[in-house]
Formats: sequence, structure tokens, C-alpha cells
Amino acid sequence: MKVQRLKDMQTLVSLCKRRGFVFQSSEVYGGLSSCWDYGPLGSQLKMNVKKTWWNAMTRRADIVGVDAAILMHPMVWKASGHVDGFSDPLVDCKNCKQRFRSDNTDSYLEKKQCPFCGSKDLTEPRQFNLMFKTHMGPTEDASSVVYLRPETAQGIFVNFENCQTTSRKKIPFGIAQIGKSFRNEITPGNFIFRTREFEQMEMQFFVKPGTDAGWFDQWKSIRMKYYLSLGINSDRLRFLPHETLAHYAKAAVDVQYEFPIGWQELEGIHNRSDFDLSQHMKFSGKSLEYFDEAAKEKYIPWVIETAVGCDRLILAVLCEAYREEITVDEKGAEDVRVVLGFKPDIAPVKVCVLPLSKKDELISIAQDLRESLSAEWETQYDESQSIGKRYRRQDEIGTPYCVTVDFDTIQDKAVTVRHRDTMKQERVLIENLNGYIFNGMKKDF
Ligand code: GAP
Repeated sequence: MKVQRLKDMQTLVSLCKRRGFVFQSSEVYGGLSSCWDYGPLGSQLKMNVKKTWWNAMTRRADIVGVDAAILMHPMVWKASGHVDGFSDPLVDCKNCKQRFRSDNTDSYLEKKQCPFCGSKDLTEPRQFNLMFKTHMGPTEDASSVVYLRPETAQGIFVNFENCQTTSRKKIPFGIAQIGKSFRNEITPGNFIFRTREFEQMEMQFFVKPGTDAGWFDQWKSIRMKYYLSLGINSDRLRFLPHETLAHYAKAAVDVQYEFPIGWQELEGIHNRSDFDLSQHMKFSGKSLEYFDEAAKEKYIPWVIETAVGCDRLILAVLCEAYREEITVDEKGAEDVRVVLGFKPDIAPVKVCVLPLSKKDELISIAQDLRESLSAEWETQYDESQSIGKRYRRQDEIGTPYCVTVDFDTIQDKAVTVRHRDTMKQERVLIENLNGYIFNGMKKDF
């Protein structure tokens, strides 16, 4: 048997659409560029991935969660530097009216010409702020401007004191958040890799100045273990330290994943120093210093940040999970089994129940069984077409177990459990099924 990994993004895009993982946003109107909707399976996959991240963070004794509003006081973005500095340099072509980035467009960098039409009739580069602006309340003037947050991190910084005092955490401790962010990206694309609306999973870990370098290293290793626990192969993960640092950063490294489009950033791990809390102290006039009771001293905590895009992680786990198993029979006929080899805890469906035939007595046992299993697991029920075709349908969406109800089930109260990866089948008593699946998901995948 030959195993073929995902070769190109288009194969995944069409599987995602065909099986209900991801659809183009507003498709009935021709779609909205770079915006995507998660379908029945995609929304469950996303929920499961978020849960793994949330649990990995907030089940630690030293991390609490928060869920801040998307709209924040406009001064937040002044203090954070986003109003003045969160921009890309753009050039307008006066001939074809296209707009492009001047700092990473080859034809402009090499020949000062438009990458779309070749014209040299161009404006000088101008800074274009990436934040989406809107107005709060009925008036639309400068005083009512608010921004859709371009990162979730600031919702954590401005809640540092609220979270610290109410949870009575002592430094070092962290605050974790999952939520939507918005950036008016100039060059979005590659499916859900870079979009204008996306979800981030960010954690700010507040530490005593001087201990930051040690914590930075610790978080690098914790985060790498997390990706391995999702079933991502270590060969396709690496760290890439930043060559140039943002003005606030003392150290920064990307966790990169080897997508079909090449090595790309998955997560950023940053030592943000005391920049953000200091800025919010300066702009709000409120002290955000921490009093260290043991040492009897006050300081502004430093921050180690881990920031990953949920959608980008979904793309990584989909790319990682996809495989084609190709077998050729003695007559030379090729058979391709497409499998999404998800780790069971993120698989959108854990168990599919299948009656061997459409006989009433089998259907009723199978439907009752699906319902009882659904108390524990995400389940599906499928009675149409041959059993082989139904297995393949589940393989393609990554379901770890198919459970078949047959005529013997009526007598022996047992079912045939078929494993996604090995395709092995085992007879299991219905009363033992939950335990069988529970143990199997831990050891078999
Ligand atoms: N608070 C720090 C911060 O936001 P970032 O490197 O700009 O850092 C963190 O973003 C992560 O968010 C990235 O590593 C990426 O996974 C994700 N991300 C950023 N921009 C994105 C976009 N336009 N579309 C999808 N994901 C994005």
C-alpha cells in the first residue's frame, strides 16, 4: 500500500466544501473574498480544537480564562501602538487602480513597476492601517470611532488587574482567551490561512522581571508538546526565531508548520517585556503594578505571550490528517481510500452507527444505540448505500469508529466495531461499547 500525503491546498478546499467542513462566506451571492464559514463538521472540529487549547491552558493551576468584548475603548489601541503603527506600506497604481504592498512585491522592489499592469505611474508608498474602523452610537464622527480588535491580547492586558485580584493568583500566572480578531489584510489568501476575520487563542503569562527568559524557554517547550499532542508530526514543526524584533519585544519565535504552501507561521511566542502594561498605565493613569507580598516589592510584570490563530491551526490539523491510501489489486485496478487521521479528541464525529440493512428491526436498534452513544460522543447514523461505501464516507471525515448492527445483534446483543486506521473489526457487547471506545480512543490512535 502506498500512502500519499496532501499535495495541494485545492484538494483540501474541495473536500472541506464537499463534506461540510468549510464553505465560502455568502456563497449564494458569489462569495465574499477571504471570508469562510464553518459547516456542520467544521464547526464541531473547531469547537474540539478550541477545547484542547482551552483545557491545556486553563486546567493549569497558574492560568485563568477571560472572554473580553471585541469592541474596546479607542484609547486601548492608541496605548498599544496599533493606531499609529499597525500598518503596511501601500502603493496605488494610477493606471489600473490596483493597490499593493511596496515592501514585499518583487516587481516594485526590483523595477518600481506595478505587479498587475507593469505601469510605472505609481503613488509613493503610504501607510495603510490594518484595523477595521466603525462607529459606536448614532453619530458618525471622529468622537464615535471604535475599532474591531486586531488582536485579543489587549483584552487581557486591560483586564490584568481584574483577573489577578478576583482569582487571587500570584505571579507568575497567565490569562488565556479565545476570540475573534479582525485585520484588513492586504494579501489574504490560501484558504483559511490568512483571512480578514479570524479567531485567535492567546495567552499572556505575567512574570517577575528577570525570570522572563526562563519562562520564554518553558513556554516554547510547552507549546511544542501541545502540537505533538494534536498528532502533528515533529518533522513538520519547527521554531523560527525572529530576525528583527518589534519595538516592544525582547525575544520572539514563531512555531512554524510545513503546510503544502511551505513552512509558515502557526504561532508566535513573544517576550513582550512590560511594554503593554506600562503603556496602559501611561494612557489610563491607573497603576497596574503588582505588589509581591513575599518580596515586599512592587513591579510591573513582564509578559510571555503565546498566540495562535485557531483557523490556521484548523488548517494545519486538516493538512496533517489528510492521507490517501492507494492499493492496487491483482488485476491492476487502483483503489484510493481517503482518510482524515485526526486524533480522536478533535475528530468531529467519534462514532457512526450503521444498520447492516434497512430492515426495521436493525434500524430501530441502530437508532436507539446512536442516541445512547450520543450522551458521551459526537455521533452519526447512516443507513444509505453499501456498508463499504458508508465506511469510506466516515474515513473521509475522520471518524475513529464505525459500529455495525447486524442480524446477530438481535440475539447476541453485540455489534461489530470497525477501526478507522487499521480497518480491523471486533465484536463488542453493546453494554461494553462505551468503555471499549473510551479506552480505544486513548490507546489506538
Ligand atoms: N498578540 C500577538 C499577535 O496577535 P500575531 O503574530 O500577529 O501576534 C498571532 O498573530 C497568530 O494569529 C499568528 O501566528 C496566526 O496564527 C494568527 N493570525 C494572525 N493574522 C492572521 C490572519 N490574518 N488570518 C488568520 N490567522 C492570523
